[in-house]
Amino acid sequence: MSKKINRIGVITSGGDSPGMNAAIRAVVRTCSYYHLSCYGFYNGYNGLINGNFEELDARSVRNIINLGGTFLKSARSKEFRTKEGREKAYKVLKKEQVDGLILIGGDGTFTGGQIFSREYDIPVIGVPGTIDNDIYGTSHTIGYDTALNTVVEAIDKIRDTASSHDRLFFIEVMGRDAGFIALNTGIGAGAEEILIPEENLGLDRLLDSLEKSRRSGKSSSIVIVSEGDKIGKNVFQLADYVKENLPYYDAKVTVLGHIQRGGIPSCFDRVLASRMSVKAVELLLDGQKNVMVGLKDDDIITCPLDDVIHEKPKINKDLLRISEILST
Ligand code: F6P
Repeated sequence: MSKKINRIGVITSGGDSPGMNAAIRAVVRTCSYYHLSCYGFYNGYNGLINGNFEELDARSVRNIINLGGTFLKSARSKEFRTKEGREKAYKVLKKEQVDGLILIGGDGTFTGGQIFSREYDIPVIGVPGTIDNDIYGTSHTIGYDTALNTVVEAIDKIRDTASSHDRLFFIEVMGRDAGFIALNTGIGAGAEEILIPEENLGLDRLLDSLEKSRRSGKSSSIVIVSEGDKIGKNVFQLADYVKENLPYYDAKVTVLGHIQRGGIPSCFDRVLASRMSVKAVELLLDGQKNVMVGLKDDDIITCPLDDVIHEKPKINKDLLRISEILST
């Protein structure tokens, strides 16, 4: 029989994403609703290791649903990857009588949580929070929608100047080794080409396509390069290569970088964070463990952490076809 849950701990870990505050708020308020105590641990797993936490009540999370970042702060803890680090964390949880953990983060966070839970029999529930959307078991992660909107807005601005100067722009976007951000913003912002790690376009095809664009009367072009893409591994070198081979192009590079991680969360991300986090607390109360909450066909579902960690989500390759048709 599973242990009764009286106190829940919550952390945000890995790269922060807009909507994490909305997720913490929902965890805390759901605990309050069910008369549970809630401890927020600071700096991801480091807070568990160092006993750096605060008891949170419904009022401690007021006015944060609209804020980017995470007020609990985040980290990628090296120490938690060691057995000694996890042992320290367990001792803190035991001393503080924390019965279960909610982990808001990405696959690195869930991998650590899964190992920890198996070693110490602490139930953990994952809530997917990353701008990359690279998590198996959910169609959307918290922060992805906001990041898409941030990127599209930036590309729109670059389009203005690209068009005024008849230039070719290579715009590098985040995504780690997944192309979700590149693919969707490329279509949303009407890019000529989208380079993603899941599909090798090849340099020759890229040159052909840019030449074709030029011949068809386009005077400016936008190429979205996902940071994990192989031919675009170094976007500056890629631009130089294109300049050498297609000298009539005045090519420029913009790396969007960390602006993609910040900003006011979109309504979609706030609602997603709220729904997922209410469910996460309820799962712990129901005696469930080692699962992640996810979104599928607008329903909140659960997926075993084992699958989340070992499977890769698939991009929708039809979007590449759509992009090809629309960039003619
Ligand atoms: O996972 C989120 C993410 O922003 C990735 O897109 C990116 O590759 C990475 O984190 C950057 O990490 P850091 O902020 O540590 O440089």
